[in-house]
Amino acid sequence: MAWDPQQYLKFQAERSAPFVDLLQLLQVRKGMHVVDLGCGTGELTARLSDALPGSKVLGIDTSPQMLEQAQTWSRPGLRFERCDLREIGGRWDVIFSHAAIHWAEDHEKLIPTLWERLAHEGQLAVQIPANHDHFTHVAIGQLAAEAPFAEALGGWSRENTVLPVERYAEILHGCGAESITAFLKVYPHLLEDADALLEWTKGTTLVPWLERLPDEMHEPFLARYRERLRARFPERPVFYGFKRILFAGRKP
Ligand SMILES: C[S@@+](CC[C@H](N)C(=O)[O-])C[C@H]1O[C@@H](n2cnc3c(N)ncnc32)[C@H](O)[C@@H]1O
Repeated sequence: MAWDPQQYLKFQAERSAPFVDLLQLLQVRKGMHVVDLGCGTGELTARLSDALPGSKVLGIDTSPQMLEQAQTWSRPGLRFERCDLREIGGRWDVIFSHAAIHWAEDHEKLIPTLWERLAHEGQLAVQIPANHDHFTHVAIGQLAAEAPFAEALGGWSRENTVLPVERYAEILHGCGAESITAFLKVYPHLLEDADALLEWTKGTTLVPWLERLPDEMHEPFLARYRERLRARFPERPVFYGFKRILFAGRKP
């Protein structure tokens, strides 16, 4: 997908708030082999590496644009590679993922597949955005189903991949995990106005839609979306409650 690192980084403070919560779910040991799935710009992978002294950390991503930015954080013990998170090999003491696995389908299969890649006493710690039922997300799907966008998209629509929070706990239990944690948290963000909501989704949720729409339709699509956001959120500032699922488990 054509990710834009600068667009994504516009809300880095807000987007990285759950990273701190996710990090707290890890038991820190010395000298671990760690992989960060969907590392994006690499900034949080570098913070993960800082928090795990003596560990070897690898950030993987499929986006060349994101990886180019991530490489600037490379240093001894921290490197980045192009790889699909569904196809990781090796054995890991920690498989970490922050705001990325919702881009991959079928979590019923994905989580056990990742679990297989954990070493003895390995830990899986994941954060997934779960705001798919918020107006900012629902409005995109509705707009895409209208003319002329529906025709241009050939009926394509982005399906929600995120499971109910308790299901992640059940899947971890099915894998034989110990110390299972799974919770949903609403992160409260105060954005300047409705247009800021568009800037937010442009950095993430809108990416696959815009990628599939011809260039000449980007502006009309964004204009209609902006109109709806302004009508729904006329206030300034705008409160943006963003739901995220965090879960973790340890291999015996
Ligand atoms: C929203 S960004 C999150 C980046 C970073 N983890 C953070 O929290 O700042 C999601 C990232 O997942 C990557 N991604 C999406 N599907 C992927 C896949 N199948 N394999 C690896 N990376 C993927 C995207 O390229 C993007 O960089």
